[in-house]
Amino acid sequence: MLADATAAATPHALARALPEGFVLGTATAAAQIEGATTAGDRTSSVWDRFAAEPDRIIDGSDTSRTADHYHRFAEDIGLMRELGADAYRFSFSWTRVQPGGSGGLSREGADFYDRLLDRLHSAGIRPFATISHWDLPVEYPQGWLDRDTAQRLGDLAGLLGERFGDRIDSWITINEPATVTLNGYALGLHAPGHSLLFDALPTVHHQLLGHGLAVQALRAAGVPGRIGITNTHSPVIPASDSPEDHAMAALFDLVHNRIYADPVLLGRYPEAPDFLGDALAAFDEVPSEDLAQIHQPLDFYGLNYYMPTLVAAGAGEGESPDGTSAAMADLPFRLLAFEGVPTTGFGWPIQPAGFARALTEMQERYGDVLPPVYITENGASFPDEVGPDGTVDDTERVAFLRDHLAAALAAVAPGGPAEGLDLRGWFVWSLMDNWEWAAGFTQRFGLVHVDFTTGERTPKSSFRWLQQLIAARAEAR
Ligand code: FCB
Repeated sequence: MLADATAAATPHALARALPEGFVLGTATAAAQIEGATTAGDRTSSVWDRFAAEPDRIIDGSDTSRTADHYHRFAEDIGLMRELGADAYRFSFSWTRVQPGGSGGLSREGADFYDRLLDRLHSAGIRPFATISHWDLPVEYPQGWLDRDTAQRLGDLAGLLGERFGDRIDSWITINEPATVTLNGYALGLHAPGHSLLFDALPTVHHQLLGHGLAVQALRAAGVPGRIGITNTHSPVIPASDSPEDHAMAALFDLVHNRIYADPVLLGRYPEAPDFLGDALAAFDEVPSEDLAQIHQPLDFYGLNYYMPTLVAAGAGEGESPDGTSAAMADLPFRLLAFEGVPTTGFGWPIQPAGFARALTEMQERYGDVLPPVYITENGASFPDEVGPDGTVDDTERVAFLRDHLAAALAAVAPGGPAEGLDLRGWFVWSLMDNWEWAAGFTQRFGLVHVDFTTGERTPKSSFRWLQQLIAARAEAR
């Protein structure tokens, strides 16, 4: 188990610990907030389709309205301004900007992002744009199982780079390829809903290739903004000292973390342990030209952190952090709950020390070749409600955010275990409550509460906390 520090940092103490130029921001993704799925010529994404299938989304909800950001973006940027945030990470809805997934940009779709970007600029907020945050067009027959989808991502990046390049501070090619492969193709918990276990592995390579092609397309379009990728990193803890548990923890670390970061940062896939037989053999045969495409110089690395993972040998019982998957019973390992560790509304373990560990692993593994790092997501869901006085007192989220930011800053500070890692910013997931994929509207992650019936926004205590931190930073300068 990882030991968490207990002293609570005040906003002033945290503000003093922020490195010069450190970016404080919030993050969202199109499918989770925009709604307006039939506006203009927008077509269906795999998440629209997945949500329409029976029993896929826990509360039977869908993408059609979510937080109605498409119509309320001006109000939402007003909230960011009130917060004082430096930056905003959003994603382009693929099927809004490129209906059907082919051809040029949609006029109406691109207009929406023009309006969003212009407003962010007038509010003095730096846009960090994710090109692919999970919402592939339904027209790609096998999704990321097809190699051709990589080329499609590259093409889209080129179009977006040409159109919006002058206004985007930082580009993220693809969000959390690990979650897409694990939840979407291996365990059937996310769109497109396949339960292929190890046969999902081609989606790793195709997403990474898509990333590499997107980087090259953005550079060819001459974008002045910086370019990176985002993955979610979870430090993996073996459940015991047994060699079996250690071997399975190493395997989970490989398929969750290293199989993505190694090719992107080192230009090679990690070596598979012998006991896996030929389950990862395809990676030994990847042509060196593909690895060269994937291994592009990056301006930054985006790291999302939510929780560590406890792994034991032996068949799974079907429980993953994102839901129950029968397919897990066929895996050689299982994921366990940490005993005595508090959890979020999602049941995810709250372990700031895991955040420090994730950063330390990045520094140890990639050290000199690691570009500057941004925490592109960090946050927690709790069952927040608007109280009788009209406020939302989410003290647990305040503690979560405070302790996680403190742990990350301490880890990279001189003498810290991740010293040398150039940490440049932290984005809270999320600006506002939104549609949490297969969990529908049951998990609230926002700094701002959203009434999903009326659309009304109410800043929570955590919003006030971040506002205070940003104000304290301005005073400390
Ligand atoms: C991440 C996703 C993001 C959000 C958070 C809670 O895996 O990138 O869209 O759902 O989890």
